[in-house]
Amino acid sequence: MDRLQRRIDVSEDAKHGDTEIRHLRSSINDLISLQTLPVIWDGRESGSIVSTLLDVLVSMLRLDFAYVRLSHSINGSPVEFLQLAQRRAPQPQVLEIGRALDRWLTNESVDTPLVVTNPAGGGEVRIAPFRLGLTDEIGMVVAGSKRADFPTPTETLLLRMAGNQALVALQEARRLHEQKRAAGELERRVADRTAQLTAANEALRQSEKKYRTLFESIDEGFCTVEVLFDENTHPIDYRFLEVNPSFEKQTGIQDARGRRMREIAPHHEEHWFEIYGRIALTGEPVRFENQAAQLHRWYDVYAFRVGEPGERKVAILFKDITEHKQSEEALRKAQAELAHVSRVTTMGELAASIAHEVNQPLTAVVNNANASLSLLPKDVPKLEEVREALAEIIDDANRASDVIARVRQLAKRAPVEKSLLDLRDVVQEVLALARHESAARHVTIRTDLSRHLPSVCGDRVQLQQVLLNLVMNGMDAMNLVEEAKRVLIIGACCEVQAGVTRTLVSVQDSGTGVKPGQMDRLFEAFYTTKPQGMGMGLAISRSIIEAHGGRLWAEPNQGPGATFLFSLPVAGDAASCAPLPMG
Ligand SMILES: Nc1ncnc2c1ncn2[C@@H]1O[C@H](COP(=O)(O)OP(=O)(O)O)[C@@H](O)[C@H]1O
Ligand SMILES: [Mg+2]
Repeated sequence: MDRLQRRIDVSEDAKHGDTEIRHLRSSINDLISLQTLPVIWDGRESGSIVSTLLDVLVSMLRLDFAYVRLSHSINGSPVEFLQLAQRRAPQPQVLEIGRALDRWLTNESVDTPLVVTNPAGGGEVRIAPFRLGLTDEIGMVVAGSKRADFPTPTETLLLRMAGNQALVALQEARRLHEQKRAAGELERRVADRTAQLTAANEALRQSEKKYRTLFESIDEGFCTVEVLFDENTHPIDYRFLEVNPSFEKQTGIQDARGRRMREIAPHHEEHWFEIYGRIALTGEPVRFENQAAQLHRWYDVYAFRVGEPGERKVAILFKDITEHKQSEEALRKAQAELAHVSRVTTMGELAASIAHEVNQPLTAVVNNANASLSLLPKDVPKLEEVREALAEIIDDANRASDVIARVRQLAKRAPVEKSLLDLRDVVQEVLALARHESAARHVTIRTDLSRHLPSVCGDRVQLQQVLLNLVMNGMDAMNLVEEAKRVLIIGACCEVQAGVTRTLVSVQDSGTGVKPGQMDRLFEAFYTTKPQGMGMGLAISRSIIEAHGGRLWAEPNQGPGATFLFSLPVAGDAASCAPLPMG
């Protein structure tokens, strides 16, 4: 300022000097006001920055119009702005002006002053376009004035300054806007995520609550355990992690949580550890029944893996089935007992004929012995006859003891013993027992036994019992039939049905027969039509045959009488003879 003052002082043309000084002063004032723009613009939106810029330019440089076109809209702000020196009617549209100025708004350098048709009114106007930024990355400004000297070098300088200030402010506004947008986006995402988490937590809490309620209220015992392995991944123990309230009732174990099973029951069976170990390793759930001898209980168990595989955690849902097992065992015993009683009863029915059967050879034994005695001392040459008589004694005695052996076998309380059987042998053994009874009742027994009969797997005594019962029933049914027609036929053959081979035994009589409506009732326990009958024979026979995997039923004959049949599966090999469930 001082230097300027001095220069003006030495000027000879004082008037010119005055104008110059005023001009300079106003220019400096303009520069200073431009310097303050950034302060006004701080934190403003691009639209407001551009509006202020245009306002300042029009009034400072006494322009007819100023126009800005931004390269991009920021957050939906307009890209074109217009400021006119005075209001005009009709107001020219910013878009029209933009279109008229279009050719000057290119990327090329347009420093030289240009004279164009005034887009904001009549006549001509001088325009000064300039870029915001090195290229037009932010936008373009066009200043227009009708003054002939527009733009003066000072004005060009001011325009550039204002442009630069605006550029920085607009870049800042854009950055701020981006920042706000990013912050807004982040906030939205955080809010979304929080909402999701809250919902998930609530769902989790709900399902946990349900699970808890179930866990607490079920009658079944429930626990989770951690299976413990040795260094060879062999399961050696398990530790209780959680137990439900029913656990103690179901096991008798108190305060199981945190304790190891071996610690609680050192003799707990090995298979428990093996099963849980396998589930922990493979993740395959298992359902099984097992005994826990040390707890004096039987359990029905469903166990499955929970948590991560590495945690080796197994959940166990179980129920004490000791009582059920005990009643099953009692039932099995009762059935065996009943079968025995029925056997003995049948033997009772046969007692008279068996006594006769035994008596006959014994009488012969006595006779032969007497004969031998009388033959011995007197006449030595008759020794040959003595030998024959003695041989017969032996035969008869053997016969008697065979019969007795069979009776004893049937009457015996023998445990079930499965073996490979030829059903023809079973038929023959029953015939030997029933022979005399049939003779006494004038019943002819015929057999029709197939030569190719596969073996079956079964208990000899039980199958004899079934067949004997059918034979006795058949004979009973023929009591009232005339003697010549009392024929009983025992058949044995094998048949193939749906690709499965089965052996079939039939007992056909020509007796009273069975009425169709009666057919199923015959097999009911205690159903009998006989004064001395027990009504247990067929019921027990059916359970024996079913326990052998077979079927027992009755069919009416074409003629008089009925046929009772049973089928049995053919035995695979001796090894397939597993124990029967019935005693
Ligand atoms: N072969 C048969 N013919 C006609 N009815 C029969 C025959 N076998 C059994 N029944 C009928 O079935 C009933 C039940 O037989 P079963 O269970 O052996 O008991 P029980 O011989 O003690 O009567 C017999 O009382 C009889 O009425
Ligand atoms: Mg009977």
